[in-house]
Amino acid sequence: MTPDSPLLHPIKIGPLVLKNRIAVAPMTRISATEDGVATEDMQRYYARFAKGGFGLIITEGTYPDLSYSQGYLYQPGIANEQQAEAWRPVVNAVHEAGAKIVLQLMHAGALSQGNRWKEGSIGPSAVQPKGEQLAFYRGAGAYAMPREITLDEISQLTQDFATAAKRAQHAGFDGVEIHGANGYILDQFLTDYTNQRTDRYGGSTENRVRLLVEVARAVRAMVGADYTVGMRISQGKVNDYVHKWANGQADAQIIFQQLAAAGVDYLHTTEHEAQAAAFGTTNSDGGTLAGYAKHFGRVPVIANGKLGSPEAANAILADGKADIIALGKTALANRDWPQRAANRQPLEEFDFAVLQPLAHIKPSEL
Ligand SMILES: Cc1cc2nc3c(=O)[nH]c(=O)nc-3n(C[C@H](O)[C@H](O)[C@H](O)COP(=O)(O)O)c2cc1C
Repeated sequence: MTPDSPLLHPIKIGPLVLKNRIAVAPMTRISATEDGVATEDMQRYYARFAKGGFGLIITEGTYPDLSYSQGYLYQPGIANEQQAEAWRPVVNAVHEAGAKIVLQLMHAGALSQGNRWKEGSIGPSAVQPKGEQLAFYRGAGAYAMPREITLDEISQLTQDFATAAKRAQHAGFDGVEIHGANGYILDQFLTDYTNQRTDRYGGSTENRVRLLVEVARAVRAMVGADYTVGMRISQGKVNDYVHKWANGQADAQIIFQQLAAAGVDYLHTTEHEAQAAAFGTTNSDGGTLAGYAKHFGRVPVIANGKLGSPEAANAILADGKADIIALGKTALANRDWPQRAANRQPLEEFDFAVLQPLAHIKPSEL
């Protein structure tokens, strides 16, 4: 990498200016208290990425309400003042080390496997999730059968996302990212086989993306125009890696255009391999999901998925198919990835042992 590499150029997403285009991808580490309160370990863990040169840190998925949104035991929340205030030292530590930090808002829906506040789970429809609960987040066996969420609950959920976003703004976060990806509740609405509703939230792609659009609008209305709001979108899910949108590029057009029109400042796409064609050749012209988000959304795009080599990361930006890259596992192995990449130093391989037997933050990560 050279000093004029695209990765090292500053960029603006909404009102937020980033010093470079290298982000830490959101990663759940179940290291909060039982009540969802962020801890000092989390403060030190996040600050290390900032000290290592990342321009942006997207936090782990954080639950917005004390109802059905929590997905995992010891996951952090931002559903009350105590949880919100506990994030403030994390934000300050990251800022002091020169990076920006965006909070990811996540409602687990039918994939909830540990909720300290409520029994049972909800989803767009009573469809049992595929696959098995995640062992490294303390789960075992099949997912529970969710209850179909009511229209009143949908309005409440939308409002709860917006209120949580406001708490994040007050706590000093530089923005919020709405988790519309990876199989959690908003993605359950977007996905044809988990959403069997016959009302305005089910059926066509326009109907299935409606809740994501309403949540984005509600968040935008609550935080005002001068605050960064993003949305993460994927095809694959933690319990179904290979899912593809049935109408390929046509779905991408509807989804990305509508989300951008709802007022998001950026789209964050995640694929197993960000540089691979998103759909088959029969229903697309062979582009990547990030490329479609840029083309149809016309807002800055964060691309994620196997971009850990500086060559791959620079290439996707140089091709104009994304504006920022987010690193997951490679960032865990290299908290100073931006410095190493800039100085052409070798990178460490990611070792899954750091997430075993449970995914909580290990002493070596502090
Ligand atoms: C331990 C772990 C926790 C994760 N938690 C989240 C999460 O809370 N929210 C989210 O959107 N993605 C989450 N992801 C997915 C990552 O953000 C990312 O999409 C994935 O690791 C692929 O990127 P990579 O190839 O750079 O690792 C998680 C991934 C890992 C490895």
